Amino acid sequence: MKGVTVVDHPLVQHKLTLMRKRDTSTKSFRQLLKEIGSLLAYEVTRDLPLEQVEIETPLMPMQAPMLAGKKLVFAPILRSGMGMLDGMLDLVPAARVAHVGLYRDPATLNCVEYYFKAPADLADRTVIVIDPMLATGNTAIAAVDRLLEAGARDIRMACLLASPEGLSKFQGHHAAVKVWTAAVDERLNDHGYILPGLGDAGDRMYGTR
Ligand code: URA
Repeated sequence: MKGVTVVDHPLVQHKLTLMRKRDTSTKSFRQLLKEIGSLLAYEVTRDLPLEQVEIETPLMPMQAPMLAGKKLVFAPILRSGMGMLDGMLDLVPAARVAHVGLYRDPATLNCVEYYFKAPADLADRTVIVIDPMLATGNTAIAAVDRLLEAGARDIRMACLLASPEGLSKFQGHHAAVKVWTAAVDERLNDHGYILPGLGDAGDRMYGTR
């Protein structure tokens, strides 16, 4: 699928399998999601532009590469996006964070915004939206809509699992937003859950079921 990168690194795939297992504890699930967050951040940022800067090693001056431009923004969709945020921040500690509070109305599966707080200069930064489950695509579409409205221009999407239906809907709305995911599963069920999936990511992270 154009614009979609499936991160097939063995560590990611192994950790994802552990997360899918029904008996994986809340503690392990949270830890694994954080670890996969770091590994996905590595892939999502692979093509960030570099610039040569002058530095001094203990032995001599040299031109060395550093990230160009303003700091990244990670934009977790509350609440389950928080599960990948710390892993991503471990890798990019200077990144800024935009919190996007959206929940899925269980009756209509539509999104309702309840919180939004982002850096003012989104237009100058690469924004990486984080949501473990790209299921119907509605939440991801609404989050990107909201970030665009707030000025963002360069947006990427990082998730753990995606459904084929959600991906094609998302790309239908936001073709310019590239997606990184650890896997594309079979399909959605009637309640908008990904099959085979891993269940409700938020509930499994926080033990709320
Ligand atoms: N959200 C989840 O947490 N799991 C799904 O399968 C779909 C949406």
